Amino acid sequence: MLIGIDLGTTFSLAATIGRNGEPILLPDNTNKNLFHTPSAIHIEGDTAYIGNVIEARLEQNPGLPVIRFFKRNFGEKKPLYIDNDQTPWYPESLAALILKKLMVDAETYTSQPVEGAVITVPAHFNDRQRKCILNAASLINLPILGLLEEPIAAAMHYGITNKKYDKTILVYDLGGGTFDISVLTMNAEGIYVMGKDGLTELGGKEFDEKIGELILNQFKEVLGYELPMDARSLLHLRQISEDIKVELSIPGTSFIDKVCVLGKHTLEVHISRREFEKAIESLLEETEMVMERCLKSIGISTADVETVILVGGSSMIPIIKKRLSKIYSGENQEIHSHEPMKAVTFGAALHAMQLSGKTVDYELPPELRGVTGHNLGVKAINPKTGRIVIDNLVKKNMPLPCISEKTYYTTSSDQKRMRLEIIQYIDKGVEEHSLGHLVIGPLPSNEINYPIKVKIEQRKDGTVWFKALDPKTGMEIEKVFGDDEAGMASLPRQKALVNSTIIIGAA
Ligand SMILES: Nc1ncnc2c1ncn2[C@@H]1O[C@H](COP(=O)(O)OP(=O)(O)OP(=O)(O)O)[C@@H](O)[C@H]1O
Ligand SMILES: [Mg+2]
Repeated sequence: MLIGIDLGTTFSLAATIGRNGEPILLPDNTNKNLFHTPSAIHIEGDTAYIGNVIEARLEQNPGLPVIRFFKRNFGEKKPLYIDNDQTPWYPESLAALILKKLMVDAETYTSQPVEGAVITVPAHFNDRQRKCILNAASLINLPILGLLEEPIAAAMHYGITNKKYDKTILVYDLGGGTFDISVLTMNAEGIYVMGKDGLTELGGKEFDEKIGELILNQFKEVLGYELPMDARSLLHLRQISEDIKVELSIPGTSFIDKVCVLGKHTLEVHISRREFEKAIESLLEETEMVMERCLKSIGISTADVETVILVGGSSMIPIIKKRLSKIYSGENQEIHSHEPMKAVTFGAALHAMQLSGKTVDYELPPELRGVTGHNLGVKAINPKTGRIVIDNLVKKNMPLPCISEKTYYTTSSDQKRMRLEIIQYIDKGVEEHSLGHLVIGPLPSNEINYPIKVKIEQRKDGTVWFKALDPKTGMEIEKVFGDDEAGMASLPRQKALVNSTIIIGAA
């Protein structure tokens, strides 16, 4: 069986292609009515409680440590959690636990082994964040056919559902924890990404927190002091805030009155839609700024966009569509909300079929061309000024795959090694991340200006591969970033850990 997986900040889910050729969601292995697994983990001894089961257990024991929102830490080298046995848990091992749960769900439901999977990633994820997902899959031996960007997955499903081709489409994807923009065109031959951008730290979590602040302010007004918060109060505040947010999205709802019990105090809180919209205004402006930055980077204006697709659970907040309707108000411009919490997974399942070469009943554009989401450069010394600069080798929004080569020279005759550091960045000084470095040497010659050829390759899945060559000796060093930088030195231990962990899913 082939599956598509949406590894979300707040919810994760998997889909496969059903007998009629349509994508179908795969349910939890103990409850056929549950399709969304909360990306929440509690570790106890050799057991990991994942998703709905932990939400239920928290009701009894709100103090249980639960690891959430760890997608935001993908690509970081440090452990996110140390369990009671002092075992460190890295982002990839936590992601692997969720993948393992989804794999068990899929295999239980279909009674077939998973032969291949496509996992989605936010479009703006850098190399390290992507490699974290690939590493997580390799920890549980999940056979990966490829990574697919979340907005492209959603657009793919939108495209085959609506058969509206030859349009310039902007996908506004606002989920539980990340915001993604992709601009693309689609026709019968393929999906062609023109540009992308996004934010890793903006999503439903921030909106919930804004409602939480409004609630606490109302308590403070009545009590005259700040409400003391314990684990149970924090848990309830988070749940109530999310409930109010979702209820406020129901058309025609202008306010919510809700009895709120926090610790020893009870209050009927009143939150109006207008109040909520005001509280999140600056966050929405931020998404629109990133959207403008994306359009500007590919040299098109809002008037050039023909269709806006809204995906991600948070895009269901009505003010978002309202604001975008003002920006895209042209006669031929349309905005559609498309399966906000399923389209990504469905697109991933379709792509899995495509990559495996299996034919699907309806026509899927065969070609898929993504673009680089970042600039890539080598940190080098400018020989004229002697200053360290980032020398750009791959520009943002270049069609993938792409290869760039350049020769660098030693700067002094006693230089025995050359250290090359690769930087991935949005703009000079904006979101600059080192992907790592490699050192080539010892160099055989004492010449000044000894040449070293550098080759950077960014593959279709957005991952970066880097090679340095000494053309005089033929010495070659190839480096796959992520091999050792992203905590990979501990991978065998993480693998043993994840595979010996028992997964408990639904309640
Ligand atoms: N009707 C609604 N109105 C507003 N927000 C909603 C609604 N329904 C769900 N949400 C929010 O959507 C978020 C979940 O959306 P989704 O499943 O698309 O995110 P995710 O895939 O977990 O996150 P990401 O894509 O950012 O990694 C949660 O924050 C949830 O509260
Ligand atoms: Mg998502």
